Amino acid sequence: MTQEDVFKKLVAHCKEYGFVFPSSEIYDGLGAVYDYGQNGVELKNNIKRYWWDSMTMLHENVVGIDAAIFMHPTTWKASGHVDAFNDPLIDNRDSKKRYRADVLIEDLMAKYDEKIEKEVQKAAKRFGDSFDEAMFRQTNPRVLEHQAKRDEIHARYAKAMNENDLPGLKAIIMDYDVVDPISGTKNWTDVRQFNLMFSTEMGSTADGAMKIYLRPETAQGIFVNYLNVQKTGRMKIPFGIAQIGKAFRNEIVARQFIFRMREFEQMEMQFFVRPGDEMKWFAYWKEHRLAWHKALGLGDHKYRFHDHDKLAHYANAATDIEFEMPFGFKEVEGIHSRTDFDLSSHEKYSGKNIKYFDPELNQSYTPYVIETSIGVDRMFLSIMSAAYCEEQLEGGDSRVVLKLPPVLAPVKAAILPLVKKDGLPEKAREIMDALKFDFRCVYDEKDSIGKRYRRQDAVGTPFCITVDHDTLTDGCVTIRHRDTMQQERVSIEALHDLIDQEVNMKNLFKKIMGQV
Ligand code: GAP
Repeated sequence: MTQEDVFKKLVAHCKEYGFVFPSSEIYDGLGAVYDYGQNGVELKNNIKRYWWDSMTMLHENVVGIDAAIFMHPTTWKASGHVDAFNDPLIDNRDSKKRYRADVLIEDLMAKYDEKIEKEVQKAAKRFGDSFDEAMFRQTNPRVLEHQAKRDEIHARYAKAMNENDLPGLKAIIMDYDVVDPISGTKNWTDVRQFNLMFSTEMGSTADGAMKIYLRPETAQGIFVNYLNVQKTGRMKIPFGIAQIGKAFRNEIVARQFIFRMREFEQMEMQFFVRPGDEMKWFAYWKEHRLAWHKALGLGDHKYRFHDHDKLAHYANAATDIEFEMPFGFKEVEGIHSRTDFDLSSHEKYSGKNIKYFDPELNQSYTPYVIETSIGVDRMFLSIMSAAYCEEQLEGGDSRVVLKLPPVLAPVKAAILPLVKKDGLPEKAREIMDALKFDFRCVYDEKDSIGKRYRRQDAVGTPFCITVDHDTLTDGCVTIRHRDTMQQERVSIEALHDLIDQEVNMKNLFKKIMGQV
């Protein structure tokens, strides 16, 4: 099965089991907009809680806010989004399809990477244990040829993006024979810039209405409130402000399910530091954020850093944490050193003094900012793609199981009476009533026990607790572990601690703090 097939199955699974539905599906959906179902919303809320608590509980100097989506329009002039939040677009005249020129070029570079990996894999097979991969990469003529081409494209691409050179981008597309995947032709228009912000009007009359934007990032709500929080919270630099909220972008290349959406949710934290200290904190937050991801146990090899070639208009350093999705390594989180760009610009546009007085230095300055910014939906997708498994079982049977980190699973335990009579449902309800204050549990008495196990596997429930006739006399139940399918007999009193040990976020927080 190809990775593409796995991804299609994952999308279908998300719909079938109440994780993600296309928005307004009865009207054939709305491009790149999705709704979260009964299981999806629980997983999403758990992701948000994992992030929020790690930010605000593990760091005494990080507090949260919840700013409005609508902001004064000058905010977006000051932030640079009105003038510079653009994507370079190109149209194919034959297919009438529109593409992002930068994405076409990144896909082209990825093709050379794939060619190199194929050569390496072929050689590894041929030479077996004696294969020296590093030597092969340095000396094989075909690998060197592909690498040279890739480096050449990369150098031209980085230059064109940094210099905002739109004809330069088009020249790469033409010179390397990039064709439209639909028409197969090179009949391209020139590259143009397209602003990604959605706008609407505020006010009741056409004359008095003011053009406002749906925020394309949550960060600006933090910048314009930084002094409110600093003063009312008596915060001392360095300190951080965290926020979770919706953001909106009129994405042109909206594909790969919830990877690139037009309405999505961000979890952002701005950390305000002394000018000159920013690189130290940039390094700290890089490591801390990677440790947060790795603590989930999805596999350390699935993460890598990707330093930016083209820095955003506000940054002096930037890196992405990438995760290995079924369609390759992709950005899940950005960590940016934003300098004093935003605060200085808001100061200029608002005419208000928003400098910080540092009592230790006895001087005022505009703080520098380190930002960590992660998309909830992308995080959701990375977890679902790592968790989705199809397993062949002994006896020819098979199962689909979501091996979700137990702390994030929508349901922690399913309580299952073996039969619907003889007092077993009543006993099962009693257990459910005792556990439900601490864990999200479901009760299920329909179908055979095997079918009920499969249903819980498919939504990633870590524990199934079966109540049988012996339970009524010995006070014990059978607990089945999702990943190993192993079953053990335990007393009802032991259930709480057994579940808690696996699903309590506290354990992950300790792991993170041990790593940084
Ligand atoms: N405040 C900085 C900022 O917004 P970004 O790299 O544009 O930086 C940060 O976005 C994160 O938001 C990304 O790493 C990604 O996880 C998420 N994100 C951005 N655009 C998205 C989209 N169209 N759909 C889903 N998630 C998106």
